[in-house]
Amino acid sequence: MKKAIAILTAGGDCPGLNAVIRAVTKKAIIEYGMEVIGIEDGYEGLIHDRHRKLTYEDVSGILTLGGTILGTSNTANPYKYAAREGAKPSFNDLSKVAIRNLEKMDIDCLICVGGDGTLHSAYKLYRDGVPVIGIPKTIDNDIMGTDVTFGFDSAVWIATEGIDRLHTTAQSHHRVMIIEVMGREAGWIALYSGVAGGGDIILIPEIPYDIDIIAQVVKERQRHGKKFSIVVVAEGARPKGGDTVVNRVVKGSAYPVRLGGIGFALGRQIEGLAGLETRTVVMGHLLRGGTPTPFDRILATRLGTKAVDMAKKKEFGRMVGVEGNLFVKVPLKKAASGSKLVPLDHPLIKSARSIGTSFGDRK
Ligand code: F6P
Repeated sequence: MKKAIAILTAGGDCPGLNAVIRAVTKKAIIEYGMEVIGIEDGYEGLIHDRHRKLTYEDVSGILTLGGTILGTSNTANPYKYAAREGAKPSFNDLSKVAIRNLEKMDIDCLICVGGDGTLHSAYKLYRDGVPVIGIPKTIDNDIMGTDVTFGFDSAVWIATEGIDRLHTTAQSHHRVMIIEVMGREAGWIALYSGVAGGGDIILIPEIPYDIDIIAQVVKERQRHGKKFSIVVVAEGARPKGGDTVVNRVVKGSAYPVRLGGIGFALGRQIEGLAGLETRTVVMGHLLRGGTPTPFDRILATRLGTKAVDMAKKKEFGRMVGVEGNLFVKVPLKKAASGSKLVPLDHPLIKSARSIGTSFGDRK
């Protein structure tokens, strides 16, 4: 009897999604003679029964493409699906509809590629009897149970490129340049791109900042002849005793809060306190677009092929993750258990502090 697997990509897109779809499909067809079904737009397509067969030809030539050929949705949640009529959204549990649709597809395994929200729904589907395997993806690098997610390296690369370009204009105009990067409640992108781009001040959600200290650092640099400063700020950063800046609330999303805008607030404050012209650039969705780095292509390929091996061995209810140099099988329950934040004793924080980088908490 022919075996079949289905794959969906859900949550915010990121570089490497097509690389993983290609890896899963090619491996399943070539090595195991399986059939592969692509579910469109993540859980949205699962609920509305939208899917198509994926052939070798469909996935050939997509390794370097950004986005996802299957589409995605970062609002649809089968267990908390928003009805869109009227002003007030109401939520319904449509998981039984999703499970019925999967049964009609007659598959042996569902591979869910996504971040913590996606993996949380994947875990619930598994608990409700669906044979699920998870693959972690997100630019935020905040998934529990894996050291790294594909998408992160590409986002860091793009952010670093942005910082490099802003460095020269900051230097020429003797300005403070603030670069805001995504990452939700985690500071991974800001930390890595901030260090790679030589940021003078790096602000991450895990270390609440003091605006007076930031102004002092900027002024001190000026006194030492450095008439410009580069501030890399995570969208989720917040002052000591203060709140994060919310950009919008997406009504009807199971995870409604979208962060963003801290860079502009900081810019006004730094200009006022340090007396230096300050400009803000928000990298935003640029970090999620375009071709994946070689690292992300390789990671996505390896995770995709591992997931197919797990499907073949019926190792359901787990996510394939990375621990050091090893690929590990992580219970979906663990992957869905919250956000992996930057530990305060992270070696990169220590290194950065030791070369004079400020995290806005002390000089
Ligand atoms: O999780 C990925 C991410 O890009 C976050 O870094 C960001 O906060 C969020 O998604 C933005 O979501 P949206 O695409 O809905 O604006």
